[in-house]
Amino acid sequence: MTATSSNEATARGVPADVAGAVDWAAERLAAAGLHFGHGADNPHSESITLLAGATDLPLDELMADASRVLDHASRARLAELVNLRIASRRPAAYLVQRAWFAGLEFFVDERVLVPRSPLAEFLAEEGMPWLDPGAVEHVLDLGTGSGCLAVAAAMAFPEAQVDALDISAEALEVAAINVQRHGLDSRVRLLRSDHFAALREERYDLIISNPPYIPETSMDALPREYVHEPRLALASGRDGLDSVRAILQHAGLFLKPDGILVVEVGEVESAVAATWPTLPFVWLEFAHGGTGVFVLTAQALATLPAPGA
Ligand SMILES: C[S@@+](CC[C@H](N)C(=O)[O-])C[C@H]1O[C@@H](n2cnc3c(N)ncnc32)[C@H](O)[C@@H]1O
Repeated sequence: MTATSSNEATARGVPADVAGAVDWAAERLAAAGLHFGHGADNPHSESITLLAGATDLPLDELMADASRVLDHASRARLAELVNLRIASRRPAAYLVQRAWFAGLEFFVDERVLVPRSPLAEFLAEEGMPWLDPGAVEHVLDLGTGSGCLAVAAAMAFPEAQVDALDISAEALEVAAINVQRHGLDSRVRLLRSDHFAALREERYDLIISNPPYIPETSMDALPREYVHEPRLALASGRDGLDSVRAILQHAGLFLKPDGILVVEVGEVESAVAATWPTLPFVWLEFAHGGTGVFVLTAQALATLPAPGA
């Protein structure tokens, strides 16, 4: 069989237009009982990711024309990706090594969490009401993974220098790809560090973090898709609060007097509120979904006992 006729055979059944192909893929993903929680929260969105991978087109170009006719190779590749997604339970973003966050495209693979923090909304659209974007000079992204928050912060705060740190050398390799792709080498510094350990004199206007926060005991109950993500990016001790504890304990030391700390803690929101009842957490609301993100000012953090006290 020639390559072309093999493509013909594999592509059989995949509609030739973008809208039809996405619906075709979504129907199959929906019927397979998969979990959708990796940047696309439904089978339709994941199908668009798979089609972007199959066609190698920029997302906006792909979505601009729902009646665009797909060639046989793209349809065959889509069928293959749908089968792989179902059989392997790997999130679509890993299969195509592309993810979209805050309106920007990122390279991703299994060295990093698939970007999905609701913080994207604040960085891409709303800004931070506590901060004057033009006055933000120094930002820290703690636990940068793919670098998505650091890159989005650099775009949101055009005058800022951004430090992006992670304990994982492998994650920092991926972050370096994304920082370079977005032309931000001169404004985003990548650092390997266990929480704040590698920092000295730095003082930030804004510290953002999407740390790991899944209790170890809950890890085995997660849908199979999560097995493909780095455990280091998800699990954080018996109660899920190890990383949050380290951040709350030390962040105040690295914030400027008017600085703020913004942390995603997802489903451990109520555990965080109960563990630090005296802290005046402000919990953000998101128009596009998502909960469990708090803001604290440097002044509020100063009310905590000093580390080691
Ligand atoms: C939930 S992922 C977030 C990645 C990225 N910021 C995002 O939003 O997609 C958490 C990240 O924190 C990193 N991390 C875990 N423990 C850490 C520690 N002790 N110090 C620094 N980074 C840590 C992990 O390697 C992972 O990249």
